[in-house]
Amino acid sequence: MVATRHAAPILVASNRGPVSYTLTENGELTSRRGGGGLVSGLSAIGPDAGAVWVCAALSDGDRAAVSRGVAEDGSRMIAVDPPVFEAAYNGIANSVLWFVHHMLYQTPLEPVFDEDFRTQWDAYRAYNAAFADALAEEAAEGAAVLVQDYHLSLVPAMLRARRPDLRVGHFSHTPWAPPDYFRLLPDDIAEELLAGILGADRAAFLTRRWADAFAAACVAVLGATLSPDGLEVTWRGRTTRLGVHGLGADGDFLRERAGRPDVAAQMEGLRAETGADRKLIVRVDRTELSKNIVRGLLAYRQLLAEHPEWRERVVHVAFAYPSRQDLEIYRDYTAEVSRVATEINAEFGTLSWTPVLLKVDDDFPRSLAAYRLADVALVNPIRDGMNLVAKEVPVVSDNGVALVLSREAGAFAELADDAITVNPYDIRATAAALLEGLTLAPEERADRTKRLAEAATALPPSKWFLDQLEALRG
Ligand code: F6P
Repeated sequence: MVATRHAAPILVASNRGPVSYTLTENGELTSRRGGGGLVSGLSAIGPDAGAVWVCAALSDGDRAAVSRGVAEDGSRMIAVDPPVFEAAYNGIANSVLWFVHHMLYQTPLEPVFDEDFRTQWDAYRAYNAAFADALAEEAAEGAAVLVQDYHLSLVPAMLRARRPDLRVGHFSHTPWAPPDYFRLLPDDIAEELLAGILGADRAAFLTRRWADAFAAACVAVLGATLSPDGLEVTWRGRTTRLGVHGLGADGDFLRERAGRPDVAAQMEGLRAETGADRKLIVRVDRTELSKNIVRGLLAYRQLLAEHPEWRERVVHVAFAYPSRQDLEIYRDYTAEVSRVATEINAEFGTLSWTPVLLKVDDDFPRSLAAYRLADVALVNPIRDGMNLVAKEVPVVSDNGVALVLSREAGAFAELADDAITVNPYDIRATAAALLEGLTLAPEERADRTKRLAEAATALPPSKWFLDQLEALRG
């Protein structure tokens, strides 16, 4: 059922929504609910709040749901033309904006901002405009609208033009690029992006570091002015307040879910595969360029090479599930992860020991099982908005875990004191950190894990969401 127009007092907009549809062979639709911080955050206001979640139709199943008028209560899917969606999502959001904010380009050859880029940019504008239209249609007078992420950077300004009565917030789940890197973008595009977000009353980020980088880009590109505390950006007579909300792990949910029998069964299965007495270095990621999985493997290889005493005594459990496989560079990266893992197994493996256990399918109970068993958690992204794995593992760890954490992850701001921190590009330092993690005294490990779990759950998704809503209405 589609909600009545102009009725929603609270709206959320994001590219990926809470539900996805699949077409079965006989043309029927099945639906599946996703997880994540936003889903549990929104649940804090309850079903009676009349909130509407506007999202994009991502698959053929989603588009069929839209054309058949199927929609879960409280959600509205937008079916943008597939080529427009493809250009906006894969072309601009994932291949340009994601690359800029995570600083992923190999700059001697890329990016190349040519005519094709301009065509894709037009598609990104159209896709953002479709969201602004839908939100303008659904929102009640004076409603609060929480726009999510780099896919929808232009929505706040577009929505303000359509509905000046609304209170609009934008939240970036990614890092924000430092000004020099942000200015790789063509000047007019850089301006349009910043002006898009500054259309919001509040622009919020996961850490102060990303908020400061955004503010610095506004000054460098737009000539905006900042308040003395650095948290108000004024441009063309309007002021946008910046906010920092460090999304935490959902401790109650994780502990309950990790205690269920399917997770226990997965723990047994993992133990059977790795060997009962071996130490486990665990990582769980999307196979994402910014997650630095390959350098993690190289660091592990260095550890085995330099510390033969650890051979046969440790297994690197690497869960790297598929992501953005429409993009060639992600397919190549996925292949490289497998290649390096296979190489390590060939170099060091024995009849009774496989040094790397790589799994490339997504299995949530199995991930929780690995979290519970991990002796060391490896979280070494080259850049990451937050990284919730770093926060989740300590919460469910059975016997304490040593967290090896990149200083480029947003989570570093909150967890650095009790983690073993690394420069993610430095293989030698990462190998040394893994060794330190493996040899950390059990008591010290337990103490650190306790403090990590506390810090990790300081701002659960429900509070994260409510705080933003309150600040926006404030
Ligand atoms: O980090 C930003 C983010 O939107 C995350 O919330 C999520 O993990 C990821 O990017 C989603 O990527 P995609 O929707 O392209 O799979």
